[in-house]
Amino acid sequence: MNNFWNDLKTTKSNPISVLAPMYDVTDVAFRQLIATLPKTQQPDVLFTEFANADSYANPVGKINTLKYLLKTNEQKPVVAQIWGVTPANYHNLAKDIVQMGFDGIDINMGCPQKNEMKIGACAALINNQNLASQIIQATLDGAANKIPVSVKTRTGVKKVDTANWISFLDQFNISTVTLHGRTAAQLSKVPADWEQVKLARTLLNSSKVLIGNGDIENAEHGTILCSETGANGYMIGRGIFKNPFAFQSPTTLPTKLELVQLGIKHVQLFKQFYANGNNGGKNYQIMKKFFKVYANTFEGASELRSKLMETNTEDEALNILNTELLK
Ligand SMILES: Cc1cc2nc3c(=O)[nH]c(=O)nc-3n(C[C@H](O)[C@H](O)[C@H](O)COP(=O)(O)O)c2cc1C
Repeated sequence: MNNFWNDLKTTKSNPISVLAPMYDVTDVAFRQLIATLPKTQQPDVLFTEFANADSYANPVGKINTLKYLLKTNEQKPVVAQIWGVTPANYHNLAKDIVQMGFDGIDINMGCPQKNEMKIGACAALINNQNLASQIIQATLDGAANKIPVSVKTRTGVKKVDTANWISFLDQFNISTVTLHGRTAAQLSKVPADWEQVKLARTLLNSSKVLIGNGDIENAEHGTILCSETGANGYMIGRGIFKNPFAFQSPTTLPTKLELVQLGIKHVQLFKQFYANGNNGGKNYQIMKKFFKVYANTFEGASELRSKLMETNTEDEALNILNTELLK
């Protein structure tokens, strides 16, 4: 098997850096922005947004699901993240993900959203080891040892259950576990508990990669937490909103010029991939959650952000950002 996780350096001073899967954030456009930054500003690994294996099983749902499974040659290694409740659907989607050329498959056993948990998916699987084991086995069978399978999860559903849950996951031939140091019930409301990541490292076979997740601001912060807990790598989610150069070490903050240029490139990529119903389309309003990233910290940023928030098309935003560059 071509297991990219094992090829990455996992020394204490150089842990694996991963950009977290985030729905309607780390889509193909945003990943392309990150994947074309200078190498020193990129994470080692990218994840897609989560894609529903059960929707993929029906012809209409399949077209929509494929929108979340786009990638480019620059996005490498990139892991396709999937979720759902039907093992056979995981098996089929895993087979197709191998064909699509992804470098890995990740099973979402951590999303705490009500809609997903209500149907027994995502973090609800932590309390359903029977179904979780069928899903992991079906995915492993679909991947057929061609690409590695991993699990992204939390410390429990309502109560912390790390010891029992990680020991359960350790039985399977998965290559990597990403542990977000909070229970599903905690959402993101309390600080992530990295002691649980430390505990997980003692429970998971040393041949398996452990990635810690939760509240990491930047590469330096992630490296410290890895060294304290023994995790092989760290995953950054919301930190990328505070600093799009979060993966650069030593940490630097982007200048106004860099931020506005990043904003322009991101809007152009969003337009290229999703405008006019391209690739199933995405609503332009999604782009607005990023304007606080690109119009931030510099003098005049809040005026710029207000103007960008009133736009309704990519071209309107591009006009405003290009004018800002001339100032
Ligand atoms: C907007 C948003 C969307 C997310 N979507 C996903 C997802 O599709 N799959 C997933 O496993 N986690 C998802 N997450 C959780 C993140 O991957 C990550 O585990 C969480 O934000 C904690 O990391 P952080 O403190 O670095 O942000 C999402 C989080 C946010 C904020």
